Amino acid sequence: MQWQVKKTIVMVGMMGAGKTAVGRALAQKLGVSFLDSDAEIVEAAHMSIAEIFARDGEPFFRARETEVIGRLLETERCVLSTGGGAFLSGTNREMIADKGVAVWLDADLDLLWSRVRHKDTRPLLRTADPFATLKTLFDKRVPEYAKAEVHVTADKSYSIDQMARRVIEEL
Ligand code: S3P
Repeated sequence: MQWQVKKTIVMVGMMGAGKTAVGRALAQKLGVSFLDSDAEIVEAAHMSIAEIFARDGEPFFRARETEVIGRLLETERCVLSTGGGAFLSGTNREMIADKGVAVWLDADLDLLWSRVRHKDTRPLLRTADPFATLKTLFDKRVPEYAKAEVHVTADKSYSIDQMARRVIEEL
């Protein structure tokens, strides 16, 4: 473990990559707080992510996301999990590079699909063909996630605990 662990660790990657579960385990191992930008947005809005998208639209959600990430990066060092779209914004990437270290949980499409297919909580996947939508997002986003400083491959055979340990090894 090197200098990066002194910074806030920001979990990035696709929905279903395990950002929240692995981030929480990682925070516990490092003895720091765990924060989640989606959870902060939901708490402040008193609405679910799906309700925010439906009522106020995605651009409104993205603006809240940038505000929340900026604010949370100013707090003491922690593990911060972000929503799958957060790292696509150049503004967010710059804030994260400035104050934290981005960790991309790199999971393949099959693993992601196996985790998100039975959940109805993600408004972006409420389409006629959610697998095709997920694939389109995946293809578009991977080059952006690849800009993260730390890459950790997620595999279905790894437990959450193993993933958290692998992140620590890479820091
Ligand atoms: C999104 C992912 C979600 C949430 C919102 C948008 C995305 O978070 O922020 O539904 O654009 O991929 P998770 O990655 O935690 O599912």
